[in-house]
Amino acid sequence: MKTEFIKIDFTKPFAEQLSFPARVLAEGGLVAFPTETVYGLGGNALDADAAGKIYAAKGRPSDNPLIVHIARPSDAGKYAQVNDLYEKLAKAFMPGPLTVVLPKKENIPLSVTGGLQTVGVRCPGDPVARELIRLAGVPVAAPSANVSGRPSPTAAHHVVCDLDGRIDCIIDGGEAEVGLESTIVKIDGDRLILLRPGAITPEMLRTVCENVVLDNGILDRLPEGTAPEAPGMKYRHYAPRARVYLLRAENENDEKFDEKAIGFFREKLSEDPNSGILCYDEYLPFLRGEYVYSYGQKQDDKAHSHLLFDCLRRFDETDASAIYAVVGKAEGIGLALYNRMLKASAYTVIYI
Ligand code: TXA
Ligand code: MG
Repeated sequence: MKTEFIKIDFTKPFAEQLSFPARVLAEGGLVAFPTETVYGLGGNALDADAAGKIYAAKGRPSDNPLIVHIARPSDAGKYAQVNDLYEKLAKAFMPGPLTVVLPKKENIPLSVTGGLQTVGVRCPGDPVARELIRLAGVPVAAPSANVSGRPSPTAAHHVVCDLDGRIDCIIDGGEAEVGLESTIVKIDGDRLILLRPGAITPEMLRTVCENVVLDNGILDRLPEGTAPEAPGMKYRHYAPRARVYLLRAENENDEKFDEKAIGFFREKLSEDPNSGILCYDEYLPFLRGEYVYSYGQKQDDKAHSHLLFDCLRRFDETDASAIYAVVGKAEGIGLALYNRMLKASAYTVIYI
């Protein structure tokens, strides 16, 4: 299959540039598109066949539900049973990097929801994504546009690398601003269950709903045989080829932590110059190696989120034997970052 590639010109109106991909979606084809979190692989959410094509293109197990993307927060009621808490969340955080799980309506096929009676709805903040959905005239089911098991794509070239020739169209709208997938919450009576942390942090959610609980599995490995609330969280995710080890402070207020981390990295590089290192800008002057990457200044957790998946993909293009990555506090967006890094490392943390 030939994949059309469309690069968005931000100085021109979007409608004309998006008319072809919008038609592809309406006719049951697949389009990869930018969002503020990561790139999505979209298909018509009302069409069971389109959902089937998404699972096939990604090589994804079909019990893993797809998020349904809408052009306006108020469209959720067409596909799901909304309630007051949804309205409050929508007012506070939508359009934006938040997915809300609600009871689904009949028109959403079970193949989209992986057999569940609930559906995750999300109105993306990215204006290109919203205009595409509006023009398509249908809700858009979209998982991240990566081959199953690879890090989510945060730039169009990541999507090309994974899906060129397997889908109808790729829209290049530049780098995804956030870089980590949306926060997912499930509404459970008057409480919110956080299924996946993201840029909408627990602290932010608590401004709308006092009762926010973290699902097991965000910070701990689930016991053998338990099913997570978000089926996708059970799969080994975001995994680069090389084994990943996280480096974390035993005592979060340790003033000597940076010194110790640099020492640890230097030791690894002297044992094996092909070691992959993911560190902060401040460490770079002290480290010499082919595969020493930084994901921003130490205090810049937005940069860490923005760059993490790109760095993991860059490691995949090397023969790095193992990857050692420094991580900070699991607070704010740092919680989402730590959650993704735990998964990439299969929960392997070295405390120093
Ligand atoms: O930021 C995002 O959410 C991106 C962009 C493209 O919007 N999409 C994304 O989709 O990350 P995906 O398919 O890679 O991850 C969706 C996650 C999975 O872990 C899935 O199990 C969970 O959402 N999910 C979807 N519908 C659900 C539901 N009804 N109940 C529980 N979890 C659900
Ligand atoms: Mg994904």
